[in-house]
Amino acid sequence: MSPDLPRPAPAAFVAPSRPPRTFVRGEGASLWDASGRRFVDLGASHGVGNLGISHPAVVQAIQRQAAELLYLSTGYDTPVRTEFLERLTSLLPPSLDRVFLSNSGTESVEAAIKFARAATGRAKVVAAMRGFHGRTMGSLSATWRKEFREGFEPLVPGFVHVPYNDVDALRAAVDDTTALVLLEPVQGEGGVHPATPEFLAEARRRTEETGALLALDEVQTGLGRTGRLFAFERWGVVPDLLTLAKSLAGGVPIGATVTTEAVQARFHGSHHSTFGGSPLACAAGVAALDVTVRERLAERADRLGTAARERLARLPPEKVREVRGLGLLIGIEMRERVAPHLLRLEEKGFLALPAGPTVLRLIPPLVIPEDDLRAGLEAIEEVVGNG
Ligand SMILES: Cc1ncc(COP(=O)(O)O)c(C=O)c1O
Repeated sequence: MSPDLPRPAPAAFVAPSRPPRTFVRGEGASLWDASGRRFVDLGASHGVGNLGISHPAVVQAIQRQAAELLYLSTGYDTPVRTEFLERLTSLLPPSLDRVFLSNSGTESVEAAIKFARAATGRAKVVAAMRGFHGRTMGSLSATWRKEFREGFEPLVPGFVHVPYNDVDALRAAVDDTTALVLLEPVQGEGGVHPATPEFLAEARRRTEETGALLALDEVQTGLGRTGRLFAFERWGVVPDLLTLAKSLAGGVPIGATVTTEAVQARFHGSHHSTFGGSPLACAAGVAALDVTVRERLAERADRLGTAARERLARLPPEKVREVRGLGLLIGIEMRERVAPHLLRLEEKGFLALPAGPTVLRLIPPLVIPEDDLRAGLEAIEEVVGNG
């Protein structure tokens, strides 16, 4: 390009469908745009913000850690990483005591797939229709929706999908060539569908019968979101692999693949992440876990979520097919496309998310002030009622 021609403004590689709104500051569940207008974030930045934006305990931990030891090769140890691993595993069933740290949800799923293949010597992965597990090639192969997969095929071979909550289909699909069954306890992106107790129980039983491993993807449901610290606690099903990310470090990029000593002992392969488990992420993670436990955010999510769903169940049935979810992961399935409703909510100062074309998804910060949540529900009633 000639030096005297003006350069076009830089743009994100994958542009959103409309010009995005710009925000300059955030606190708790509030975001402010450049004009000073406040918005309430009912989507917690796709579930990252369980603790809200810039939680003071996380900010303080990051500041302290950055000044002390910002990064360190994963080949060395540092007290803050040990502290984080101890804190995380102390909240999990005793069998889940081996942790691989990375930087995102998709990486945590990639690691689960690799660990399962290498530990079992098998290739087949059974996932669910409507499931979402990320967008890198392995996790994308487990992700169901055509829009996410289109243009990238061939994906990784060996993946099959069964209808979610179909016990017989799951039973038939899992056999002695299966390395891994990979499921979300509540499908988030796929429309907010909780698993039935029978489905997860069968996933556990059938994987044990066939020598396959069971991974639960709690990237979206973990850390209090569904009214339990980990959603699987509701079903009493303990997986062999658990994937976590999003809110685990209070907004600092992190991914964790938690597994058992037995899986680790059978894993003869190589896997690594340069930035995984950085001191900065671990310090933020310790602070985030402390706040989550100390402030009983899972119980709060349960209480607020139950009340919100009861209220939303009174939305007009000619507009709304079903309201479902657990804790503060709520899906409002509409009888029409949800995009115009989301736009009208945004005009009123409330940011919510879709989960597919007809589901309005609410995943607010677990610390959202009750007044803000109430105002958000009122706005939804107006928008859906009058839309
Ligand atoms: C259940 C689940 N797994 C994996 C991912 C991928 O996480 P990331 O976007 O951090 O790669 C997501 C993201 O929404 C998710 O909801």
